[in-house]
Amino acid sequence: IPVDPFDLVIFGGTGDLARRKILPALFRRFVAGQIPDGSSIVGAARSEIDDAEYKSLVKDALREFHPGDLPEDMLSGFLNILHYVQVDATGDQGWDALAKLARPDVVRAFYFSVGPSLFGALAERLHHHGLVDPETRIVVEKPFGRDLETARALNTSLAAHFEECQIYRIDHYLGKETVQNLMAIRFGNMLFEPLWNSQYVDHIQITVAETVGVQGRGEYYDRSGAMRDMVQNHLMQLLCLIAMEPPAKFDPDAVRDEKLKVIRALDPVEPADLVRGQYLADGDRAGYLEDAEDPASKTESFAAMKVHVSNWRWAGTPFYLRTGKRLKARASEIAVVFKETPHSIFDEDAGRHRNTLSIRLQPNEGIDLDVTIKEPGPGGMRLIDVPLDMTFSEALGPESEASADAYERLIMDVIRGNQTLFMRGDEVEAAWAWTDPIIQGWETRGDRPEPYETGSSGPEDALALMHRDGRRWREIR
Ligand code: BG6
Repeated sequence: IPVDPFDLVIFGGTGDLARRKILPALFRRFVAGQIPDGSSIVGAARSEIDDAEYKSLVKDALREFHPGDLPEDMLSGFLNILHYVQVDATGDQGWDALAKLARPDVVRAFYFSVGPSLFGALAERLHHHGLVDPETRIVVEKPFGRDLETARALNTSLAAHFEECQIYRIDHYLGKETVQNLMAIRFGNMLFEPLWNSQYVDHIQITVAETVGVQGRGEYYDRSGAMRDMVQNHLMQLLCLIAMEPPAKFDPDAVRDEKLKVIRALDPVEPADLVRGQYLADGDRAGYLEDAEDPASKTESFAAMKVHVSNWRWAGTPFYLRTGKRLKARASEIAVVFKETPHSIFDEDAGRHRNTLSIRLQPNEGIDLDVTIKEPGPGGMRLIDVPLDMTFSEALGPESEASADAYERLIMDVIRGNQTLFMRGDEVEAAWAWTDPIIQGWETRGDRPEPYETGSSGPEDALALMHRDGRRWREIR
């Protein structure tokens, strides 16, 4: 879908996120012909550099972070629409120059790719310098606070200058192709929705496994841990999309209202249903305690939990969530495990099976449905499971738009003014209200996370969390 010409200002335009994600995403959209003539991208930061130096910084970033071969012939066109302004987020320097570049007659978007401590100041400065009109949008990144109180304060400071419909809170998981596909699968097919409830679903597993460690972000991560870094936002969003009621329309507030109801229906989690872990050193690779700089850190690099959504649809069907770093594979999936048939007409030897619908978020995006069939051959009626496997890259071609990065999609949605894939303020607050007691419980009890081997599936207790319910995690691979 084409977008209107826009001016996008990236505060923190020289920073890590801008170089790794935002600028490569914009470049890919440029190459795809989706950035209309007359648009411009403005890097704004404290560094004393000029336009030419900024362009060269961006060129280096693209060479480093552009996925696949860089189409060099498109570079100069892209660099032509780039500008740089040195701006002081808390003072007056640079704002007049910025006001000239961010024009009121095109869509104006300001991306706050800076720490949350600057959100309030930037909102205030934009307002003060006359850069805000009803069409102006701001984009804010996570972490959106570190608990309910700080999230509320951030919402209040943004609300002083912007309407909720102007605020785009990014959770990049919502921009992932397969995550959006969750909604298409659920609400675009007749097949699944009638079975999508506790009468037919035994349990749901959500796994977001990473092989990387904290990657030099020890200072940030050690103040966050897996619960704040991943569960409060990414896993919570996945849970919402899986558990929510069908919205009446695919419209931002209809979708977000339904997600909010899921978060509000979450029971508090019992300590016995929570597991956390820390990865151990492996050969040359440091363990969490070395990465974290605090040799006594109690921050978790792994968290697993059993969660109940207490509503009519889900009462009695547990959701098991787990996420961690330095696990055996980079694999994120959601598995909907259906109940056994109520009665088997076959001999006991035939075995009893369950259908599982698994949605692979990454890598190798696709959908798999385990179906029970007869084992071929003359050996009588024995049942086996075979997957009906749809791997998107095979079904749709590797170069399909499915391969677009989450940031490409989300940034374009900002320009289009579509908030469906962004978190609303009340959603973020509700997620913190649920997460806070878990974290506080850990802090009060002061127990250490359970160590786990790098390259494993996480701590033993996480396996036990399922085993004691007579269930097991799907393999991480
Ligand atoms: C980020 C977290 O939000 O998501 C990181 O801060 C994590 O710790 C990353 O590694 C995972 O994102 P993705 O897209 O690689 O699954």
